[in-house]
Amino acid sequence: MDLPRNLLCILFFLLVCTSHAAHSEQAAAALLHWKSTLDSRSTSNLSSWSPANSTCVWFGILCSNASATTSHIIGLRLPEAGIKGRLETLNFAAFPQLTELNLSRNGLHGAIPASISLLQALVYLDLSFNSLETFIPPELGSLSNLVDLRLDNNNLTGAVPYQLSKLPKIARLEISHNYLDKPDFSPMPTLQIFSMYSMGVNGSFPQFILECPNLTFLDVSWNKLSGPILELIPKIAPNLTYLKLGTLGELLVLDLQNNPLNGPIPVEICKLSNLYWLNAPGNNLSGTIPPCISGMAALTRLELWNNQLEGELPATISQLHRLMYLLVGFNRLTGPVPKDLGQGQPLIIVDLSNNGFSGELPPGLCSGHQLQELVVNNNSFSGLLPACPNLTYAWIGQNNYSGDNSYVIGKYPILRGLDASWNEFTGMIPSSLHGELPSCLTKLQLLYFVDLSRNAFSGEFPALTSHNCSLTSLHLANNDFTGGFPSSLSYCSNLTILDLGNNRLNGEVPSWVSHKMPSLKILQLRSNMLQGCIPWQLSHHSRLQLLDLANNQLSGSIPRQFANFASMIQQSDGFYLGSTHILLTYSNRALTPYSDRIDLIWKGKYYTFEKAIAHMTGIDLLSNLLSGEIPTELTNLKGLQLLNLSRNNLSGGIPNDIGNLKALESLDLSCNELSGHIPDSFSGLTFLSSLNLSNNQLSGMIPTGGQLGTLNDPSIYSNNSGLCGLPLNIACLNGSSGSAENKDRDPGLYYSILVGFAVGFWLWFGAIIFSDPWGVAVLSCIDRVLNC
Ligand SMILES: *[C@@H]1O[C@H](CO)[C@@H](O)[C@H](O)[C@H]1NC(C)=O
Ligand SMILES: *[C@@H]1O[C@H](CO)[C@@H](O)[C@H](O)[C@H]1NC(C)=O
Ligand SMILES: *[C@@H]1O[C@H](CO)[C@@H](O)[C@H](O)[C@H]1NC(C)=O
Ligand SMILES: *[C@@H]1O[C@H](CO)[C@@H](O)[C@H](O)[C@H]1NC(C)=O
Ligand SMILES: *[C@@H]1O[C@H](CO)[C@@H](O)[C@H](O)[C@H]1NC(C)=O
Ligand SMILES: *[C@@H]1O[C@H](CO)[C@@H](O)[C@H](O)[C@H]1NC(C)=O
Ligand SMILES: *[C@@H]1O[C@H](CO)[C@@H](O)[C@H](O)[C@H]1NC(C)=O
Ligand SMILES: *[C@@H]1O[C@H](CO)[C@@H](O)[C@H](O)[C@H]1NC(C)=O
Ligand SMILES: *[C@@H]1O[C@H](CO)[C@@H](O)[C@H](O)[C@H]1NC(C)=O
Ligand SMILES: *[C@@H]1O[C@H](CO)[C@@H](O)[C@H](O)[C@H]1NC(C)=O
Ligand SMILES: *[C@@H]1O[C@H](CO)[C@@H](O)[C@H](O)[C@H]1NC(C)=O
Ligand SMILES: *[C@@H]1O[C@H](CO)[C@@H](O)[C@H](O)[C@H]1NC(C)=O
Repeated sequence: MDLPRNLLCILFFLLVCTSHAAHSEQAAAALLHWKSTLDSRSTSNLSSWSPANSTCVWFGILCSNASATTSHIIGLRLPEAGIKGRLETLNFAAFPQLTELNLSRNGLHGAIPASISLLQALVYLDLSFNSLETFIPPELGSLSNLVDLRLDNNNLTGAVPYQLSKLPKIARLEISHNYLDKPDFSPMPTLQIFSMYSMGVNGSFPQFILECPNLTFLDVSWNKLSGPILELIPKIAPNLTYLKLGTLGELLVLDLQNNPLNGPIPVEICKLSNLYWLNAPGNNLSGTIPPCISGMAALTRLELWNNQLEGELPATISQLHRLMYLLVGFNRLTGPVPKDLGQGQPLIIVDLSNNGFSGELPPGLCSGHQLQELVVNNNSFSGLLPACPNLTYAWIGQNNYSGDNSYVIGKYPILRGLDASWNEFTGMIPSSLHGELPSCLTKLQLLYFVDLSRNAFSGEFPALTSHNCSLTSLHLANNDFTGGFPSSLSYCSNLTILDLGNNRLNGEVPSWVSHKMPSLKILQLRSNMLQGCIPWQLSHHSRLQLLDLANNQLSGSIPRQFANFASMIQQSDGFYLGSTHILLTYSNRALTPYSDRIDLIWKGKYYTFEKAIAHMTGIDLLSNLLSGEIPTELTNLKGLQLLNLSRNNLSGGIPNDIGNLKALESLDLSCNELSGHIPDSFSGLTFLSSLNLSNNQLSGMIPTGGQLGTLNDPSIYSNNSGLCGLPLNIACLNGSSGSAENKDRDPGLYYSILVGFAVGFWLWFGAIIFSDPWGVAVLSCIDRVLNC
């Protein structure tokens, strides 16, 4: 009795097994065949795919139960596997139980075969980030178990089959970044995640989206859709948690008659009580921020920067108890900030910059203890700053803060970047040795970026007690600092930009600047009262690309070792300005509130340079007491763009090889005692667009040719002893030196010729800001006594 029953059992088992084996053999054969059709150089990840191995251990194969004999293939999980080839050669009929097919981020090309619809068990289908082309097969609409379908980032074209909207279980559908038409779907009750960004579609907002009640994530950015959107979405998708509409330019063709994104924020949006991120920067939103905003109780990110919003921040904004990112910079908001802002709110970044806010920042702004970035520059804030224990970046420049600054830094113990420029801060050195700033600064060992320029600080720069100076950028320009070159900076070995211009520093430029600050790229000491010789050791600075010692009382000669400035020998590739990346790490915003700013005389005018400064090379020794000859070695600096030696007592000739300075755009040698001829090599200075040789004792014929032909303002040669030729109205006699010229000195004038804008620097970088508060320096050529 037992035997036949056992036999039956065995028989049954064998039957099941063999039928199953047949099945899995078929699947293995299908996979091996497909492998053989793939680009053979792309299958290194598939080396385990061989008949010698059991299919279930092959790379990327998922079996229902690998250890069971009855297992079958339920998943093909091969994302980022480096596979190149086509899908058409895969026999989908061999995988009736497959629930997951993930071939994302491979090199698949060709069409999506209609036979993929044979995978009737399929739940997850991910073909995103390949190079699949032609149309989406409508047969996909018969995959009735499909929950997750991702076809984004391919080269698909044509219509999106409406059958996809009939998929009864579909919850996630991604078709972004293809060349598809705007989908014409029927309502999709199960859809939760839908993205169709960057499809280049235009016209009205797809109606079906308005009828997807379960939608929580919607990304339609980077298209040209128009029509009422913000007003409608809350009605149809009350549970939306993510809404990315992109900027107006990407999203909307402006309908000036009735376009919500061009007008006020519709109050309907306040009903989105589940929305956690409202991301609508760079639209033309106007009007006020509606007080009902507190209705968006789940809001953690409110990004409305770069619009045209006006009025006050509504007090109700402090009721958003989950708010972490409040970014409303670059609008026209005014008035005080709600005094409860920050109370019970876990704020991380607050950007109120570039508005017209006034009054005091709320004292409790940082009571959530999370605030890392405070961006309030370019407003009219005044009063006291809030204490923020976790603040790493404080951008408080261009406001009306005044008084002693020491309390500022004390409130931010782990600060890394501080821009307090353009305020009216004073003080800083209350007593001779134990000023408040030194003790604060020494605590701030993380600080790498400080801009205190354009304030009213005075006194000597404090002595640093710490040897751990982490500063990379230090801007103290336009204050009233006195004393010698700050010796405490010798600890700041990472300093890249040092700007002490426009103060009242005296004494010598110490020679240790070169070895104590080996990373220095920009040294700005203009307009102080520095004396003594220029230390030749500065030339050890292999990275120095901008040296500005103008308007001091430096004497002696120009060190010939300056020929060794390595960064001026080659055209600058630019360097990384430490401050420009800061906000980018937090959100995908393109705005940065701060970058290093340096004032320079460029082509005869004062400019404030921002990002462009990273590419600037120059030496400015204007208006000192320098004497001797211009070292011929300087012509070695082939990457130099700016050379200003004007208003010194330099004598001798202009170096014959000056034409070697191929990158030179701005050259000023005026108001010296230079004599001899203007070298012919001048005509090789092809980028030269600003030149001044006036007020010297040059003689002979002005060379012609090259860029010199465009520099035809005679005043740039005026007041020399014997120049002739064009553009002067003086003919050269007998081919040698011309007739004597009018010798009137013209001390009050500073000539500048701005031609050739199309060549050179301006073409590369637009980021130059004209600084209007200062005009052109009007200086006189005074004969000076030299001794050094
Ligand atoms: C699968 O086959 C490859 C190549 O034939 C072999 O190197 C590997 O050891 C096998 N793996 C298993 C788990 O059997
Ligand atoms: C897989 O199969 C083994 C052997 O047949 C069995 O012991 C185990 O419980 C199975 N596991 C699952 C998750 O089905
Ligand atoms: C193999 O797959 C791994 C993981 O998916 C991937 O990181 C790797 O780049 C692939 N190898 C090749 C050669 O593509
Ligand atoms: C496919 O694999 C990638 C990479 O592991 C993963 O990010 C993605 O979510 C997977 N797709 C599906 C539908 O699970
Ligand atoms: C898409 O197709 C165009 C031409 O039709 C081709 O230039 C482009 O490289 C393709 N892109 C991808 C990602 O395959
Ligand atoms: C909406 O999504 C939830 C899951 O978040 C799901 O339970 C529910 O069934 C969905 N509604 C419909 C109509 O599919
Ligand atoms: C959309 O674009 C197509 C082709 O680019 C154009 O023919 C059509 O007029 C546009 N429609 C709208 C409403 O702008
Ligand atoms: C929205 O979410 C709430 C719970 O948060 C739920 O009760 C409600 O049914 C959802 N609405 C829709 C249309 O899914
Ligand atoms: C905003 O509106 C102004 C006119 O009101 C228009 O000139 C400008 O192009 C619009 N901006 C965008 C991004 O569409
Ligand atoms: C200051 O903010 C106003 C208003 O947004 C803006 O127009 C102006 O350009 C900003 N100034 C600077 C220097 O950024
Ligand atoms: C500061 O941030 C850290 C995490 O970055 C957190 O643990 C701490 O509680 C925060 N607050 C203070 C006061 O440090
Ligand atoms: C200087 O920079 C280097 C490299 O970025 C860093 O390792 C070092 O800690 C910095 N020194 C100080 C004192 O911050």
